[in-house]
Amino acid sequence: MFSVRRAAVSFTQKRAFSASAANPYKVAVLGASGGIGQPLSLLLKLSPKVTELALYDVRGAPGVAADISHVNTNSVVKGYTPAPANLAEAVKGAEIVLIPAGVPRKPGMSRDDLFNTNASIVRDLADGVAQANPNAKLLIIANPVNSTVPICAEVYKLRNVYNPKTLFGVTTLDVVRASRFISELKNTNPANEKVTVVGGHSGVTIVPLLSQSNHPDITGEQRDALVHRIQFGGDEVVQAKDGAGSATLSMALAGYRMAESLLRAKAGESGVVEPTFVDSPLFKDAGVEFFASNVELGPDGVKKVHGVGDIDSYEKGLIDACLADLKKNIEKGVQFVKSNP
Ligand code: NAD
Ligand code: LMR
Repeated sequence: MFSVRRAAVSFTQKRAFSASAANPYKVAVLGASGGIGQPLSLLLKLSPKVTELALYDVRGAPGVAADISHVNTNSVVKGYTPAPANLAEAVKGAEIVLIPAGVPRKPGMSRDDLFNTNASIVRDLADGVAQANPNAKLLIIANPVNSTVPICAEVYKLRNVYNPKTLFGVTTLDVVRASRFISELKNTNPANEKVTVVGGHSGVTIVPLLSQSNHPDITGEQRDALVHRIQFGGDEVVQAKDGAGSATLSMALAGYRMAESLLRAKAGESGVVEPTFVDSPLFKDAGVEFFASNVELGPDGVKKVHGVGDIDSYEKGLIDACLADLKKNIEKGVQFVKSNP
């Protein structure tokens, strides 16, 4: 009995020591009290790579922080009430800042319908981060992602601190969904279903490349239905929640996966690849400055933007439709900051 206890104690101490010494990363969540913010913060509290967690919101962050701080993992959690100085303190020294702050959709709304409310929320938070910690990797969850990411880029440009390698629109949920939906169709393990999804994060701008998946045999009406489900998966949740918001739990998992991947790359792991909406060379010729594709992550953020690879004529049609919408969404974000700096 005595020796078992001693073994347990020394195991715990060893883990605690290695977690803090090897991975001393601070992560900040802005909008931490919300439907996404709370489970996302909980998942980050479970990460051995995170040693400090800063939770900021216009309401309730100290309470969420007090609650999560009792989880017995080796990280410190602090909650921040809304004030510019508190925002600066929350993000100071953070390796990663995630922004899920903003309103979610209700049935009948598009993501673009959120623009009028969320554009200024994201602009002001990004401005705070640009001033206090411009080198942090900035992960934008707030919708419409196709516009909020360009908004952040413009804000950073106004402060002369824009670095395209550190700005990410979080589109991970689209591949999480795609692999799950394919596995339901094919009765397989979703963990083995790697699907590339490119473009943006709304409706027809979400382009799954099924020809590159394990199941290029999915064709015809079955393919149309699957592509539609992946493009409009968010609507399924919005309708099921019936006015109480949009995806929060699956989104928390997806946001956590993206943050963890960046921390793994920061810690020196090579070959870390995630889909994400970034300042991209792929379709700049077509006037589209931002595009989601698989991106290799490195210690400084974006290491290499992968191309879309071999696609068939059906997928070429999807990308054409995507680019037309995406261009407008991006321009809307850019214009917003130019008119409302
Ligand atoms: P929510 O309303 O539950 O939570 C939003 C939180 O943001 C609230 O706690 C609110 O107090 C806070 N907030 C609002 N303004 C703020 C400000 N200026 N500073 C700090 N905090 C502020 O909403 P949710 O369900 O968590 O969704 C948040 C956003 O994420 C929505 O815009 C939604 O559309 C988007 N979303 C994106 C994806 C994606 O794949 N990228 C997936 C799901 C949801
Ligand atoms: C999603 O894809 O679930 C999110 O973008 C939220 C939404 O509005 O659908």
